[in-house]
Amino acid sequence: MFKRKQAEIITIPKHIAIILDGNGRWAKRRGLPRTAGHQAGVENIKRIAVHAAKIGVKALSLYAFSTENWNRPKNEVDFLMNLPEEFETRFRDEFEKHDIKVMFSGRKTKISRKNQEILERITERSKLRQGLVLNICFDYGSKEEIVQAIKQIAMNVKEEKTTIEAIDEHMVDDLLYTKELPQLDLLIRPSGEIRLSNFLLWQVAYAELYFCETFWPAFSERELDKAIAEYSRRERRFGGLKG
Ligand code: IPE
Ligand code: IPE
Ligand code: MG
Repeated sequence: MFKRKQAEIITIPKHIAIILDGNGRWAKRRGLPRTAGHQAGVENIKRIAVHAAKIGVKALSLYAFSTENWNRPKNEVDFLMNLPEEFETRFRDEFEKHDIKVMFSGRKTKISRKNQEILERITERSKLRQGLVLNICFDYGSKEEIVQAIKQIAMNVKEEKTTIEAIDEHMVDDLLYTKELPQLDLLIRPSGEIRLSNFLLWQVAYAELYFCETFWPAFSERELDKAIAEYSRRERRFGGLKG
């Protein structure tokens, strides 16, 4: 009997988030300084963003610097704080070519004035693009994001712009950095760590989670395809029953 291999049905997630982890260990394995890993990690943002755009992902959120990463040695933090400048000059043409719109999530208060201006410029330049939304989470912490939403709601109640009874999930959604993005479908953490490290804690509520061993600088287009194939095989029930 002839057995035909069934073609796999691939569902492209609308919104994928990736924790860009493992830069330091990637470099160490090669006998390089940790900063070389960060450099390679930034390069990989371009490769994966372009691939995501090509396969039709609508939004890609990348965790690039957390509110806790300030605790690292000064030379490493300084190096990471110089990356936005490089990001702006090196990726400009490629992102334009692929119609990628760039936005940033995170605090704008602690980073330097210069970096604030760079992030504003990148956002402004790409704001009318219709392709993939590349959401770079920089000085981002999920708890910080939720706290500022709570403060805003408290303020709105105090100023009688809303009432306690009117507070609901949508109101919170609309106060998060991700308010304009589709619901998160798939969260990927490379590098073997099985934790969220303060990333998208609210948004992850019904996302599928995918962990792999590859360090971020080596995370290839094929790895992303593999994660999406695995996502396609999952059954999402959202608390209901099997469809
Ligand atoms: C992720 O790589 C990049 C940032 C957190 C900025 P790491 O620097 O955490 O690399 P590992 O986890 O030490 O290998
Ligand atoms: C999470 O990675 C933050 C980013 C990738 C930006 P970390 O390397 O900082 O996380 P922990 O310390 O292992 O939890
Ligand atoms: Mg790490």
